[in-house]
Amino acid sequence: MKIGFVQFCPRFGDKDDNLRRVEEMVRGTEADLLVLPELFNTGYLFLFQEEVVRAAEAIPGGPTTQFLLRLAKDEQVHIVAGLAEKAGRRLYNSAVLVSPQGWTRTYRKSHLFVDEKIFYHPGDTGFVTFDIGAARVGLMVCFDWIYPESARVLALKGADIICHPANLVLPFCQKAMVTRCLENGVFAITANRTGTETRGDKSLTYSGMSQIVGPRGEILAQANGDEQVVRIVEIDPLKARDKKVTERNDLLADRRPELYGEITAKENEI
Ligand code: ACM
Repeated sequence: MKIGFVQFCPRFGDKDDNLRRVEEMVRGTEADLLVLPELFNTGYLFLFQEEVVRAAEAIPGGPTTQFLLRLAKDEQVHIVAGLAEKAGRRLYNSAVLVSPQGWTRTYRKSHLFVDEKIFYHPGDTGFVTFDIGAARVGLMVCFDWIYPESARVLALKGADIICHPANLVLPFCQKAMVTRCLENGVFAITANRTGTETRGDKSLTYSGMSQIVGPRGEILAQANGDEQVVRIVEIDPLKARDKKVTERNDLLADRRPELYGEITAKENEI
């Protein structure tokens, strides 16, 4: 199975150009699964909720998901991509999975970062996994990485590959995802963006370094900090089904959930 990421620098507010450049990068790649960054079609640094309202789209009816569906069908590839979602009056920072067969699935970001807490509703899908034939994939978005529970729940729900659209500004995630993969025995594709966005008196620089990590924590591919690039590696996704780290240690079967109650308790219940 060939899996990969698209690392690029979206131009804020220029959907047409962002979609055009993604199409150019994806055409002819011959991958089975590609992951694009968070908010890949619009850019990230919204200043006002009104801007998000205007930029957000319905899934699957909106033009970005329809574009992704056409691309997935033409190129016979599953694509995971981040975009602002409008659902009734609510806005979510979502990731969509589109298939070459024409179906669509959605994950809504659970752990919102800084001003996202003003603009978006906290995700209400929970952590979800989907069968794409060659593998079962699980979705999370950017800052979800800092809660190890996100990747753990995806692994418990059978994810072989975690698809992780990101717009990373802190320098920790790439290293942390090595541990997430090792402790859960899964692959992860972190697709980050590059470049600096400056709007009003705010400025964010994104760290690139998109990567694909294997179930033993091995880095299978990594971009540098500012290149715009597609990287694809061939993997055997079934390697993520073997959770043994020694003949006597199984990552999931040996857990002691009876000792972990605080993890699912609310703060005021501990
Ligand atoms: C992030 O969640 N975009 C850092």
